[in-house]
Amino acid sequence: MTALATVVILAAGKGTRMRSRTPKVLHDLCGIPMILWPVRAALGAGADQLVVVDTPERALAPVLPDGVALALQPRADGTGGALLAAMDQLDADGRGGDGPVVVLSGDVPLVSSHTITELLQAHSDSGAQATMASALLDDPSGYGRVVRDSSGAVQRVVETKADGDATAQELEIGEVNTGVYVFSAPALRAALGRLSADNAQGELYLPQALEEIRADGGTVTAHVVADQHLVLGVNDRAALARVRTLAQRAIHERHMLAGVTIVDPSTTVIDVEVRIGQDTTIEPFTTIRGATSIGEGCTVRHSYLVDCLLEDGVSVGPFAYLRPGTVLRAHAKAGTFVEIKNSDVGVGAKIPHLSYIGDADVGEDTNLGASTVTANYDGQAKHRTHIGPGVRTGVDTTFVAPVTVGEGAYTAAGSVVTKDVPPGALAVARARQENLEDYVRRRANPSREGDGPPA
Ligand code: UD1
Ligand code: MG
Repeated sequence: MTALATVVILAAGKGTRMRSRTPKVLHDLCGIPMILWPVRAALGAGADQLVVVDTPERALAPVLPDGVALALQPRADGTGGALLAAMDQLDADGRGGDGPVVVLSGDVPLVSSHTITELLQAHSDSGAQATMASALLDDPSGYGRVVRDSSGAVQRVVETKADGDATAQELEIGEVNTGVYVFSAPALRAALGRLSADNAQGELYLPQALEEIRADGGTVTAHVVADQHLVLGVNDRAALARVRTLAQRAIHERHMLAGVTIVDPSTTVIDVEVRIGQDTTIEPFTTIRGATSIGEGCTVRHSYLVDCLLEDGVSVGPFAYLRPGTVLRAHAKAGTFVEIKNSDVGVGAKIPHLSYIGDADVGEDTNLGASTVTANYDGQAKHRTHIGPGVRTGVDTTFVAPVTVGEGAYTAAGSVVTKDVPPGALAVARARQENLEDYVRRRANPSREGDGPPA
């Protein structure tokens, strides 16, 4: 940042247009709540003090990182009211000072650290008392429009959300207010004190502060943000989906430029915190969520991964579901129709088909036959299955946890293993086969033989 700045993020609105019981800024955007996007941008820009305006219920408190202060807006009486609530907080901290105050919106999530820095620079270069980030949008509907005079100077912002604020002529304006501003603190304080709710929504509109600053003889400028995508607002779920697509595209680009092959980005979902190593290939129809970390040289095919760790050279899918706490050590494999959760699968171990592995440790180079299943839950508690290195399980082996299988042991196909298996042993835990000889003929002629078909 050109100057250390206070950043205030407005996030206490009702979010009515989302039609949701969840506050708008807590809706998920690529794996983290929307509010964390502007929070991270502000921190990335080097914010000196960061205040988020929340409702009195403090819904946002649990997700905000340490060091972020909350200001509580007593009731949702508009963006002007929200910033007023934050000013109290700034003054209470004794850090409001005279420096620049950056204002962001919790529902403008893609704003970048660079945009903030650029806006602060424009603000200090021009010496204005207020600098608004504006944008030329393809579809400006619903946004406040920037009204300029014949000389091009910014006069005010006119709202268009509700009928009655804007004239038909003003609705033709394509330059919008992005809801991102820098103010000089003293000018802002004076202006906020004079906001009125005399408008179509009966709210305190923050952009009215721009007019008040001009009335006080101050200068107001607009800095046009070149990339309109960075300043799109999310007011409903359709806009959230559009913004998500843009955010997802940026996440894909970042990985691809770092050496990850994403065969078909349009069918691949990757959350913002996911890490992927060089020369890993992500095949189509894969979703990688949460804090998943994938090493180098892995292949993930048509699978769903949540909060798991894959070391180098791992192979996953197609159709694998890796749930939280799954660790696949180097060169391990989780194949087709395999579900794993809270398990540590050793170096080079293979779970190729149709298995459920939960709460288990699987040793190095162990191979689990098709349909190996851990019965990890007894109806009351979860238990662990320990499978040593070099183990071979026959198809359709069930491990009833807690149970331990020693190094190099085998299990026979169809076994239900309830007791520990010593190293090097073969566990056979199934009924022995019995063949009823001559069954078909006896069944067809019960009377002659005097003995009916076996029950
Ligand atoms: C606002 C601007 C509009 C701009 C648009 C950009 C106003 C009056 N209008 O409209 O000029 O084009 O953003 O996206 O400012 N909030 C509060 N408390 C409230 C009301 C809102 O904290 O009482 C917060 C919301 O949580 C949200 C932000 O302020 O994060 C913007 O509010 P919203 O209602 O979405 O304003 P817009 O109609 O989008
Ligand atoms: Mg909005």
